[in-house]
This record gives sequence, structure tokens and C-alpha cells, in this order.
Amino acid sequence: MIQFKNENPSVLLVEDDPEQRRLLEAGLDRHGHRVAAVRDARGAIARLTLESFDVVVSDLGLPGMRGDELLRHIRQINQAQPFVMLTGESDVATAVQAVRDGADEYLTKPATVSRVRESILTAINHRSEISQNERVVKYAHFGELRGFLTGVRSLVNSLEAKDEYTKNHSKKVAQIALMMARSLPGISHRQIREIRIGAWLHDIGKIAIPLTILHKDGPLDPEEWEVVKQHTVQGAKIVEPLAKKYPEIQRIVRHEHERWDGKGYPDGIKGNDIPLGSRLIMIADTYDAICSTRPYRKALPKEAALEVIREGAGTQFDPNLVPIFEETYESFPHPE
Ligand SMILES: [Fe+2]
Repeated sequence: MIQFKNENPSVLLVEDDPEQRRLLEAGLDRHGHRVAAVRDARGAIARLTLESFDVVVSDLGLPGMRGDELLRHIRQINQAQPFVMLTGESDVATAVQAVRDGADEYLTKPATVSRVRESILTAINHRSEISQNERVVKYAHFGELRGFLTGVRSLVNSLEAKDEYTKNHSKKVAQIALMMARSLPGISHRQIREIRIGAWLHDIGKIAIPLTILHKDGPLDPEEWEVVKQHTVQGAKIVEPLAKKYPEIQRIVRHEHERWDGKGYPDGIKGNDIPLGSRLIMIADTYDAICSTRPYRKALPKEAALEVIREGAGTQFDPNLVPIFEETYESFPHPE
């Protein structure tokens, strides 16, 4: 059962295939949605100048102006418009691009009415998060670090609230990274502060990843995996307002999945080129993941985390930080 917060959202459906258009229009109408169905982008733009819709559901391969061009046109005028892209089987790569360009969801055709309704719900939720996010970023241009962080805190909370298994994850990772950082000789107050904020915001870019991908039950296909990896780049974008005063925070967020041996992402940098904060997060994140219950397994003891981290010294993890982890890990809180 799909439950919308208020009444069923109104839908502008843009589909040139008459059969698919009729099927979706009738199906959505039966579920109580107000639906306007048009066959091309021109028709959609004309409707949108007359009235507003809670969501636009559009085919990508439209004749004339394509669905992605329509999306760009809408985004220029209305950043807050939830948008679901329908695609043919073969253009998933284009669809991934569409998501990066600002679509909230995409669906492969032929789409059933219930799949479309699920996507509408996800798109509306996703867009409201993005809008909230943009407000935070705008606000931060005027405010100080504290103002920015207050706004971003609500984003971290909303990110983690969606998944009970990652609740407090960012806070715990920050705590552990900090405990390790504090025992490093010669570390400055400023570095400690940057590591604390960077660790706390490390996964913030996930807010820009479609929920259908982030919470997918089965394994991710290569295109979806590419989208997930983008959370590092997206995260760096979100903290951009801090970059002038605290460039290190932005670097920490961007590089939190880089590996010591250069096989990480997004840039494949290695060794000491990776910011210290990111190298600490890599260890802290692994520790917290192993010691937390996941949908597919129970929490493991601290010793299991120690073994994995020892084994990864010099490949995944900074070999100079692993001994620091070994010295301090006994005092880490066990997440469970
Ligand atoms: Fe991450």
C-alpha cells in the first residue's frame, strides 16, 4: 500500500506512446490522482504555464524536445518540481545522467501503475530534501560555520532517519575518528575541528542519491553503483559554502572513500595525498559498520573489526594509522 502524506498528488504525464499513456492515465485516475496527460514536451510546458502539478512523470524518448531537455527547462524555472523520468530498456545510462541533471527518480518502461505511484512518492520526498538542502546551502553564504552546521545537522538526521541501521552512524564515526586523531602527536586544534566536522558530514552526499538505489534490496548493477559512488562528489558540493574558510573539510568529505593503495574513489588518489581526516574516517567507518547490526547480519564483536582493519593495513587503510587504531580501539564505544 502506498500512502501519501496528504491527498493523492496531481500528476502531469508526458508520454508519446498512446497505449502506455492511456494505461497510466486511467490507472492513476482510478487511484484518485488528478491527471493531465500530454504527448510531448511542448504540451507539458504549455500545461505548466497554466497550472501547477505535484509531480511531472515524463518519458525520456519523446519526439521533438526530449524528456531530459524538458527536465532542464523545468529546472531553470522551478527547482522544487518533483520529476520522474520514464525510460526505455536501453537508455539506462542516459537515465542515470538524467538523475544527475535533476530528475528525482527514473523508471524503466513498461511501467506499472503501482511502480509509478511508488516513484511519485519517492520523487516528492527526494525533492523536498533537495530543496531543504539548497536552502541550507544558500543560508550558509550569509551565516557563520555554526549557522551552516545547524542546518546541515537536520540533513544528517533526515538522512539517517530513513534507515534504522545507519542511525547515529555519522556521529559514531566522528567520535571514533576523533579519539584516534587526538592521540596523534602534533595535531592542531584546527585539524581536530576539521576532522570532527568532516567525519560527521562524511556521507551527507547520500541525500542526493535516489532512495530506490540507496535502499535497493538486491545487489546494485554497475550504473547504480556509479550513482552511489557520486555521494562523495555530491557531499563536497553540499559543503562548498565552507570551502573558502575550511577547505580541508571539503577535501575530507570528497575523499572519504579513497584507499591507501589508490584503488578507492572518486579520484583514486593514494597514500598521504589522501587527507588525514579521510584516512581516519575509512578506519572508523569500517569499525562502526562491522560492530553494528545490518539487515543481513548481527553486530560483530570489536575483535572482528580489529582483524579486518589489521588485514587491510597498507591496502585499504593507512598502515601508520592502524597501530593508532590498535592502541585506542579498546576504549571505543561498541555501537550495540
Ligand atoms: Fe560514504
